[in-house]
Amino acid sequence: MSLFRLDASIRPDHSASRALADIVETTWRAEVPSGEVVRRDVGLHPLPSGAWPLAVAASRMPEAERSTDQRDAVALATRLSDEVIDADALLFAVPLYNFGVSQHFKTWVDLAITNPRLATGGPQPLAGKPAVVVLVRGGAYGPGTPRDGWDHASGWIRRILEDVWATDLRVVEAEFTLVGVNPALDPFKELAASMRATAEERAADYGRELSLVRTP
Ligand SMILES: Cc1cc2nc3c(=O)[nH]c(=O)nc-3n(C[C@H](O)[C@H](O)[C@H](O)COP(=O)(O)O)c2cc1C
Repeated sequence: MSLFRLDASIRPDHSASRALADIVETTWRAEVPSGEVVRRDVGLHPLPSGAWPLAVAASRMPEAERSTDQRDAVALATRLSDEVIDADALLFAVPLYNFGVSQHFKTWVDLAITNPRLATGGPQPLAGKPAVVVLVRGGAYGPGTPRDGWDHASGWIRRILEDVWATDLRVVEAEFTLVGVNPALDPFKELAASMRATAEERAADYGRELSLVRTP
């Protein structure tokens, strides 16, 4: 049994998304001691941003006419797709950056979607596959907050994972991760701690749920 894990945080340490994904992975691991974790760390090891246009161009021409760079880009997209298609369960940990989606996660999605198996309207080999996405935000964006509507990442990420790829998605969310870092957010210490505790509980529950998948 295998778990694919993608991290998009640009921080190796003190990362809220990595800490929550660690809880998912640890609880999954406790149930599946011999399972394999396949890691793709696009935050610390970004994919080349130039690969996407090469793969798109290659997809519109006969194989024999492709340049070496185009072939390499297609091979990379195939490898990325294989990693999720071959896994029994999926885990994504993606922070909010500049009110939008992490560019590294976007590059990964864009490349994977060039593979015909994961293309929009394609055969959906990830349909029903159990998945967890950990979404963290430094501030807060709920209804009634001053920045309600400013989070332009979460909706898009869910659209891709739930609708384009049809995974069986669970969402772990933690807001106010900058409390304790940005003094202006000090009044929200209690709220942040409670959001964090809820997120940690969900992460553990969902890690166990991912382990319930059995390969045929
Ligand atoms: C360059 C940069 C831009 C950020 N932009 C936002 C933002 O627009 N909104 C927000 O709520 N938090 C923002 N943050 C805060 C991160 O979402 C927050 O620190 C989160 O916990 C980062 O994930 P990590 O802890 O896993 O590294 C930003 C952080 C960085 C480093």
